[in-house]
Amino acid sequence: MDSVTVRVPAKVNLQLAVGPLREDGYHDLVNVFHAVSLFDEVTAAAETGMSVRVEGESADQVPEDGDNLAIRAAVALARHAGRSYGVSLAIRKAIPVAGGMAGGSADAAAALVACNELWGLGLPLDDLMEIAADLGSDVPFALLGGTAVGTGRGERLAPLEVGGTFHWVFALADGGLSTAKVYAECDRIRAADGLPVPEPRAAEPLLAALHAGDAEALGAQLTNDLQPAALRLRPSLAATLEAGRAHGALGALVSGSGPTCAFLAASAEHAEELAAALRGAGVARELLTAHGQVPGPAVV
Ligand code: C5P
Repeated sequence: MDSVTVRVPAKVNLQLAVGPLREDGYHDLVNVFHAVSLFDEVTAAAETGMSVRVEGESADQVPEDGDNLAIRAAVALARHAGRSYGVSLAIRKAIPVAGGMAGGSADAAAALVACNELWGLGLPLDDLMEIAADLGSDVPFALLGGTAVGTGRGERLAPLEVGGTFHWVFALADGGLSTAKVYAECDRIRAADGLPVPEPRAAEPLLAALHAGDAEALGAQLTNDLQPAALRLRPSLAATLEAGRAHGALGALVSGSGPTCAFLAASAEHAEELAAALRGAGVARELLTAHGQVPGPAVV
């Protein structure tokens, strides 16, 4: 086999409950991940060394060296297999970079799947999941797709049954936000408030809305504990969220650590209308529509 191409979806967080800061610098979470139909494509081609090239949406903001999470995934997989494999990775980006939609994690997950195939390793998903958890908190979900509750750092996953398709509008912002900086800002806001931080808990009404496929109920239940921090770091997002609500979104929130904003619509048609209205309002760099849930990475 000369090359393998894998298509991998973005995620939005439907509930992101952030617990107290742990001693290891992470936070315990209840993180309801939902994979949506914005896709990156990663092609792995046989080569002696390791290299990566990135094209597409904001490609100039993605490192093309050993810091690239997809290359780190390939290196970790080769190490796991105990061999000095090589690969050249070509990433075509559509998922916003540093946008709170786990684009880097998606590329890492796609690289694991592509290299597993290219190198003929035949490793089971469980092995890839272990490697994924070491690469980043969101990489295991990126391997799984669908909808799942993540606990621990977000890496311990329980898949959820979802009773319908949900339609989304995503407002892309100029530039990204650093996940670590948004968590740190969240800690600062909490320290200033001086209130105890409760352990994170899954919201039962949100799980029920997902199970029923009830978009209106889901819209009312969307929450993100990182949102105040993302708004503090990027105050213009408040107007973006408000415009979505004013134009009839069933729910509006910052996706993950932001700065992408997510709006839930009642139907595919409603999503297109909402995207057009937000485009007209000039509150985002770009508006995209997508649906969820979708399956995880797939060889194309
Ligand atoms: O795991 P990952 O490398 O994606 O995390 C990036 C940063 O996000 C961490 O360095 C940490 O600051 C923050 N984080 C956290 N708690 C989590 C996940 C991420 O504080 N559960």
